[in-house]
Amino acid sequence: MKLTYFGHSCFSVEAAGRTLLFDPFITPNPLAARIDINSIKADYILLSHGHADHVADAPAIARRTGAPVIAAFEVANWAAANGAPSTRPMNHGGTAAFDFGTVKLTNAIHSSSLPDGAYGGNPAGFLVTIGGETFYYSGDTALTCDMKLIGELVKLKFAVLPIGDNFTMGYADALTASEFVKCDRIVGVHYDTFPPIKIDRAKAVEFFRQANRTLHLPAIGDSVVF
Ligand code: NI
Ligand code: MN
Repeated sequence: MKLTYFGHSCFSVEAAGRTLLFDPFITPNPLAARIDINSIKADYILLSHGHADHVADAPAIARRTGAPVIAAFEVANWAAANGAPSTRPMNHGGTAAFDFGTVKLTNAIHSSSLPDGAYGGNPAGFLVTIGGETFYYSGDTALTCDMKLIGELVKLKFAVLPIGDNFTMGYADALTASEFVKCDRIVGVHYDTFPPIKIDRAKAVEFFRQANRTLHLPAIGDSVVF
């Protein structure tokens, strides 16, 4: 599985001949200025919740690629109303099958209003099984005991967790989350984009290393192969 980072919480995962794009927020992100959203591949677009820093470019990429938008019911309906040609509305605890495998919506402790102010339902994370392997993207969330269920139920190849603090858990709680989900390969997201979530990257990486875990912080545009 190949993960490519596009800044903030936007990344794609390529496996089994499919590209899954998560939480596209590129054109409003000055740190991602050299990423052209028209060059981003997507067979599916997954949105964790309705906040603009997770959905801003989703309608444009959905319209260009025709990629179905997979999200909580309210967020999927917002995408459809904004021109996404195909959506798969879901809700927490549900699993849906696609041509690459399955997606299950997990709990996240956060909020979820849409850019137009509409109710976005509850924020979510994703357990994605693709090509027979599973990874977890928590979405924006606090550390929560619900993550222990994931560690008990599935074996993860890697996990994508927010580490920027203030709006989500910080990297210390993300290390505990990695223990709860029983995964020692973590990709950190949701940091550095705005002043309140600026972090010391070297300190975060070292914090994980001390616990014999790996925190991957790929540069924007770079990839990690798992
Ligand atoms: Ni958010
Ligand atoms: Mn966010």
